[in-house]
Amino acid sequence: MKAAIMGYGTIGSGVYEVLLKNTETITKRAGEPIEVKYILDLKEFPGTPVEQKVVHELSAILEDPEIGMVVETMGGTTPAYEFVKRCLETGRHVVTSNKALVAAHGTELLEIAADKRVSFLFEASAGGGIPIIRTLYDSLAGEEIREISGILNGTTNYILTKMYEEGWAFDKALKTAQELGYAEHDPAADIEGHDTCRKIAILTAVAAGKEVNFEDIPTEGITGISDLDFSYAARLGVSIKLLGNCKCEGGEAWMEVAPALINAKDPLYSVEDVFNGILVEGNMLGMSMYYGSGAGKLPTASAVVGDMIAAVLAGRQPKPFGWSRERMTVHAAGELRRRYFARFEGSREQKRDDVRETFGQVKWIVLEGQDEFAVLTGEMTEAEFMAAAEKVAGLRQKIVVRT
Ligand code: HSE
Repeated sequence: MKAAIMGYGTIGSGVYEVLLKNTETITKRAGEPIEVKYILDLKEFPGTPVEQKVVHELSAILEDPEIGMVVETMGGTTPAYEFVKRCLETGRHVVTSNKALVAAHGTELLEIAADKRVSFLFEASAGGGIPIIRTLYDSLAGEEIREISGILNGTTNYILTKMYEEGWAFDKALKTAQELGYAEHDPAADIEGHDTCRKIAILTAVAAGKEVNFEDIPTEGITGISDLDFSYAARLGVSIKLLGNCKCEGGEAWMEVAPALINAKDPLYSVEDVFNGILVEGNMLGMSMYYGSGAGKLPTASAVVGDMIAAVLAGRQPKPFGWSRERMTVHAAGELRRRYFARFEGSREQKRDDVRETFGQVKWIVLEGQDEFAVLTGEMTEAEFMAAAEKVAGLRQKIVVRT
């Protein structure tokens, strides 16, 4: 198999490295060697082993009949979408780590791949090195999936862990995550929750076999989480994590991306640093959890290489994979009844009666020296919470409690 890598950044160069380091094992498992013939990138990489392989035009790949597979690790949708489409249309297998591409154009690209009898695989697009997509599609094929809840972004989990446990400032934690190769080119995609949103959309689509429009998912990132929230979390003995959530019932989904309070008994509590953790509940299996490196060069590249081998083995008879054009009905998870952590300005003494009247029984948390107080509410919908909070007035923070 002769392949091309489009995009020689962190993941693309990682794929090259994995193919070199594990050549013997990969050749044995694929049944033939996988050789990288071209690297498509805007840069030159002089003095590196790939110097002679670099091309700058897609046509160099498309016009070479020897190229049977293309790895797309460019990120973003422009020009990745056009490039991938043309590779599939000309009968090349495509393996990608690009969640933005898969979430936005997966349905169409899966259809083209099926039509051309080639593989379009994207294990690395969610959960980094964790083999979650194939697990959902193959191993859990006999399950009705009821819930997928996960820490799906390595960068934000790294930032939250360093802020909470080491007292780092947000900017220092983000800069280090960038240096370690975890963050997106534009880290807003990580910290605003968009990366997690695309990943939970992909996982839900694979599990349900229906297209999920990521734009239907209410999405909030971690930029509103402050040191003070961590002080309350420490007092309560809980952690704060950015979660992508999906609950499925009757063929419909209730979804959300938002920070959540996680209690110490929850398996997601101890998922720290760049690690991802994904809880999957099936109607027969019950709860299962998948854990591993969620970002970074070699873990992500490992998932790409696994897909490359799968594509070689499938050859011109790829098995059905992905989801159909049928669109999943997505509701906001806020319609479900959940508990909330909320901070209000003022004192407990001033607002005790208002809180009792609107929220009923709550757990109070008061930190010394603050001009505010916090409560843990009972179960309610988001609309009920907002109506009650408006009556109390002075809402400063609201974080859902994972149950
Ligand atoms: N920026 C992503 C993350 C990379 O931090 O999880 C892996 O998809």
